[in-house]
Amino acid sequence: MVVTKNIDNRWLRRYKVFFLIGILILSFQLYLAIRFFGLSVDSAQNTSRWSPHKLSNIDSNDVENSVNSARRSKDGLVIDDEDIGNSVHQHKQRLSIKSNHGTNKVYTKNQTYLRLEELDFVPSCEITTKEAISAIHRAKTQRCKQKISNITCLISQGLLYPNQLPNYCPNEGYVAGKSLGCFKDEKNYRLLNGYYGNYKNMNSPEFCIRLCLQSGFLYAGVQYSTECFCGNDEPTATARLPDSSCNMKCPADPHLACGGYYTVNIYQTGIAKFVPQNAETSTASYTKPARIVFLLTLNGRALRQVRRLIKILYNRDHYFYIHVDVRQDYLFRELLVLEKQFPNIRLTRSRFSTIWGGASLLQMLLSSMRELLNSKWKWDFVINLSESDYPVKTVNKLVEFLTANKGKNFVKSHGREVQRFIQKQGLDKTFVECDTHMWRVGDRKLPWGIQIDGGSDWVALSHQFVKYAASSEPDELVQGLLVVFNHTLLPAESFFHTVLKNSKFCNTYVDNNLHVTNWKRKLGCKCQYKHIVDWCGCSPNDFRPDDWLRIQNTETRQIFFARKFEPVINQAVILQLEQWLYGIDVNKNIPNLNSYCQSIYHHLDLTPFVDDSLITIAQSVARIKSKAISETCSVIPDKILEVTSFHMDDAYQKTLVLYLAGKVQIQTYLKGKNMFVLIKSSPLTHRLKALTVSTEYDQKEQTLRNFAQVMGPYSEPTLVFEFNSSPDVSAKIINITFLWIDPAGRLVEVSDASIDDSYSIMHIKPILKQPLIPGIWTIKLIHKNQALVETRFLITPLEFFSGTVVTQKQVSFIHSGSDIIKEFDAQWDKFLPNSHDREVLLSKSISDSKRFGSDLQDWIDSLVTKFFIIGQACVVGNSKEICGHKLQACNEAYWSSFAPDPKSFLGNINQTSGSFDLW
Ligand SMILES: *[C@@H]1O[C@H](CO)[C@@H](O)[C@H](O)[C@H]1NC(C)=O
Ligand SMILES: *[C@@H]1O[C@H](CO)[C@@H](O)[C@H](O)[C@H]1NC(C)=O
Ligand SMILES: *[C@@H]1O[C@H](CO)[C@@H](O)[C@H](O)[C@H]1NC(C)=O
Ligand SMILES: *[C@@H]1O[C@H](CO)[C@@H](O)[C@H](O)[C@H]1NC(C)=O
Ligand SMILES: *[C@@H]1O[C@H](CO)[C@@H](O)[C@H](O)[C@H]1NC(C)=O
Ligand SMILES: *[C@@H]1O[C@H](CO)[C@@H](O)[C@H](O)[C@H]1NC(C)=O
Repeated sequence: MVVTKNIDNRWLRRYKVFFLIGILILSFQLYLAIRFFGLSVDSAQNTSRWSPHKLSNIDSNDVENSVNSARRSKDGLVIDDEDIGNSVHQHKQRLSIKSNHGTNKVYTKNQTYLRLEELDFVPSCEITTKEAISAIHRAKTQRCKQKISNITCLISQGLLYPNQLPNYCPNEGYVAGKSLGCFKDEKNYRLLNGYYGNYKNMNSPEFCIRLCLQSGFLYAGVQYSTECFCGNDEPTATARLPDSSCNMKCPADPHLACGGYYTVNIYQTGIAKFVPQNAETSTASYTKPARIVFLLTLNGRALRQVRRLIKILYNRDHYFYIHVDVRQDYLFRELLVLEKQFPNIRLTRSRFSTIWGGASLLQMLLSSMRELLNSKWKWDFVINLSESDYPVKTVNKLVEFLTANKGKNFVKSHGREVQRFIQKQGLDKTFVECDTHMWRVGDRKLPWGIQIDGGSDWVALSHQFVKYAASSEPDELVQGLLVVFNHTLLPAESFFHTVLKNSKFCNTYVDNNLHVTNWKRKLGCKCQYKHIVDWCGCSPNDFRPDDWLRIQNTETRQIFFARKFEPVINQAVILQLEQWLYGIDVNKNIPNLNSYCQSIYHHLDLTPFVDDSLITIAQSVARIKSKAISETCSVIPDKILEVTSFHMDDAYQKTLVLYLAGKVQIQTYLKGKNMFVLIKSSPLTHRLKALTVSTEYDQKEQTLRNFAQVMGPYSEPTLVFEFNSSPDVSAKIINITFLWIDPAGRLVEVSDASIDDSYSIMHIKPILKQPLIPGIWTIKLIHKNQALVETRFLITPLEFFSGTVVTQKQVSFIHSGSDIIKEFDAQWDKFLPNSHDREVLLSKSISDSKRFGSDLQDWIDSLVTKFFIIGQACVVGNSKEICGHKLQACNEAYWSSFAPDPKSFLGNINQTSGSFDLW
C-alpha cells in the first residue's frame, strides 16, 4: 500500500480506531467494486507522475458540464440567429415586432464545402471545419480569406499554438502530478468541490490535473472513470483508502485507474494557494508619490469630453499617453496641439485600427506600453482609460492610494468558475481578425500548464510588470500567450490577468480594477456587435443621473473611476460628479455649463468616410442662409468647414454648419421640423410619446445617434416609437402596423408590432432596397384598420457622392431608386394615395431623378426648407459686417461652437498641480 508518508502516520496514530474501522468498510467496498468491475488495480502506481507529452486530443463536445453559454451565437453564423435587428424582447413584456419581409437569412449557400472557385489562392491544407469554411466565405477580401485559411491550416497541423507553457509563479513545494492516493468521496460532501466535469472519452489523471490547474485549483481528482473533480482543500487522511479501492479504468488510457464508485484518486496540480493581495491604505510618509501614466485609448469625436477628462486629471507630475484610433483624423489632429503646450502629454504615432473585441486592441496596448518603456518618462503605474471614463475620486486620493501600493497590479477577475468563463468568453475558440471583423474559425485547446484568468479589461499595472509583459524580448510564457491572444476575442480582458497569474508577479495581483462599470445587461447584451464579431458581446451603459447612487456608493470603496460617460447622451451626471468631488459652484454663472458641442464633420478629415447626405444638406443650408443674408450682394458659400452637433440640457438642439464665404467664416444652424401628423385621436395615440425615423439606432442607449435625421439614398432608416404605459391596466396586447410609403406614393414595406399596456420603446429597421428614392417618405401607423398618425422623413437627393460633386451619370443612377417593388395585401391600398395621385407622384419622381446642376440644388433646397428650420448666422473673427448686414460674433452666440466652454478649456491647467479650482 502506498501511503503518502509523514501526514498519514501522524493521523494514523491519532485516529487509529476510526482508521481501522474505515479500512474495514473500505475493504468491503473494494471487494464489491472488484466484483462489479473486475478491474486490475496494479496500474495505480503509474499515475503518480504524468508526462506532459502524452495527452490525447480533446474534443470539446465531450465536455458535459453544464455551461451556460447563452450569449454564444449558434454555430458561427450569427446572422442565422433570430433576426435580432428586428425583434426586441423587453424585460418582462411580451413584445414583438415582425417585418413582413424581415427574415434575412443571408447565408443560405452550401456551408459544408469550401468553394475553391471563389478563391484566388489554393489553401495549404484541406479545410473541413464548418466555422472556418463559413468565415472564408463571408470574408470580403481575398487577403482576409487567405489569412483565415493560413491560420486554420497552421492550427490543424499543430503549428500555431504551444501545447504547454511554463508557470513561473512560485509553487511553494506543490508538485505537479504528485499523487496523494485514493480517497473515499461522499455524494453530499465532496472532497473536491470547486469544479466537476464528466469526460466520457478523455478523462485520465493527467487530463484532470491539467484541467484543474487551468482552472486555478490545487487538487485534481478522478472518479468513477469519467469524472474529474477540482478543489482547493487538501483531502483529510481519514478519507484515505488503499489504492486498490480506486479501480476503474480511465477512458483515455485503460491502463490507468480513474477512481471508482465514490472513490477518487487525488493529485496535486502543482500550484500553490492563490491569495489576491489586499491593497494598502496608508503610506509611510517618506515614500515618493507614485507617478502615473494615463494611457488614453481613444476613438470617436468626443473631443471636448477628452479635454474635460484631461483637465480633471491633470497634474504636472503625471503623464498622458494618447492612442487615437487610426481612422479618427479629427481627434488626432485636434489633440496633437496639446503636445506643444504640455511636455507631459504625448500622442503615439503608431496608431492601430481597433475593433470591438479585436486582437488589434492588445497589439495596440502593447505597442503603446513598449513606447512608454522606451521613453524618458519616470512612472510607476499605467492606468488604461478611454474617453468614456471619468474619475470618481480626486487625483490626490488616487496618488495617495497608488503610492501605498507601488509594485502591485490591479486587475479584476471574472469571479466565476474558470471553465465556464473560458466557454462564455470564447477563449476555447480561434478568432482571426481581418476586414475589420473577428472571424470565428473553430475550436482550440488552450496551452496546458498555466492558469487561465480574465475579467475586466480596465487595469492599473506597475512599471515592473509592464516591463515584463510588454517586453520586446518576451520569455516563453509571454511569447506563448502572445500567440494565443493574437487569436482571441476580447484579448485585453484576459491577457494581462493570465500573464500576471503565471509569472513571478503572481503575488502582486490585486483583484480590483479601480473601476465601477455601469452594467445593465438587459440593455447592453443585445448582440449589438454581430456585424463586427462572430459572437454576442455586451457593453456597459452610459451613466445618467438615475444611476447616481451607483457612483455615490463608491465613496468608501477603493474605486477611482467609473464608466461609461458620454456627453451626447448625458452630461448632467458628469457635472454632478465634479460638484461632488470638487464642490464646483454652479451658481457662479459659468458660461455654457450645460451645453455640449461635438463635431460630426470636418473638412480636413480623410477618415472616417464623409457622409454625402450630411455634406449635401450642410451645403444647402449654407446656400439658403447666404441668400437670406443678402439678396443684393451675393455671399456665395465656397466650402463647408465643419458640421457640429449642439446639445443643451442633455437634449439635442441643432446642427451647426460652419462655412467659408469669400474670406469670412460664417456659422449657422439647422433644426428639424416636427413632421408628426395626428390623423385620428384615440387612447393609443394619447400614449404615443415618440415616432421618429433616423439612422444609427443604439439599442443600448435607446437613442438614434443620427440626431439631425440626415439621410440619403444609401441610408438605412430605422423607425423608433415609444408608448407610455396605459392608464387602464387590462394587460391587452395591441397589434399595430406601420406602412412605409415612398415619395412616389408606393407601399414599400409593412411592419407589424405588438405592444402591451406597459411603457415600451421599440425600433424597426426594415430591409429596404437601395438606393432609396429621394424625396419625402411617409410612415403611417395603422390600428384596427384605421390610420391614426403619420410622420414624414426626408431622403435627400445627393449633391455629393464619395465626397465630390456628383456627375450626371451618377445622378441618374442614385436618384432613380430601385425598381424592385414588392407586392402587398390589397387591404392597405386605401391608406395610399389614389391611383391618379400615384401616377402624378411617380412621374414627378421620375423627372426629379433627372435633375442636375443648379436644378438639383433647387430641388435639394426646397426639400431642406420643408424639413428644417434654418437659424441665425454668426461670423467668426472681427469682421461682423457682411454686405452691409451686421451679424453677431460667433463667440458671443451661446449656440455657436466658438462660444467659450470653460469646462473643456485647458489653457490654465498648467498653473495647478492636483487641485481643480479652475473655473
Ligand atoms: C454541398 O456541396 C457538396 C459538393 O459541392 C454536395 O456534395 C453536398 O450535397 C452539398 N450539400 C448541400 C446541403 O447542398
Ligand atoms: C498565407 O500563406 C502563404 C504561404 O505560406 C503566404 O504566401 C501568404 O502571404 C499568406 N497570406 C496571408 C494573408 O497571411
Ligand atoms: C506649461 O508648462 C510648461 C513647463 O513649465 C511650459 O513649457 C508650457 O509652455 C506651459 N504650457 C502652457 C499652456 O502654459
Ligand atoms: C484599455 O482601454 C480600451 C478602451 O479604450 C479598452 O477597450 C481596452 O480593452 C482596455 N484594456 C486594457 C487592458 O488596458
Ligand atoms: C500577432 O499579430 C500581429 C499582426 O498580425 C503580428 O504582427 C505579430 O507578430 C503577432 N504576434 C505573435 C506573437 O504572433
Ligand atoms: C395580434 O396578432 C397575433 C398574431 O400576430 C394574433 O394572434 C392576435 O390575435 C392579434 N391580436 C389582436 C388583438 O388582434
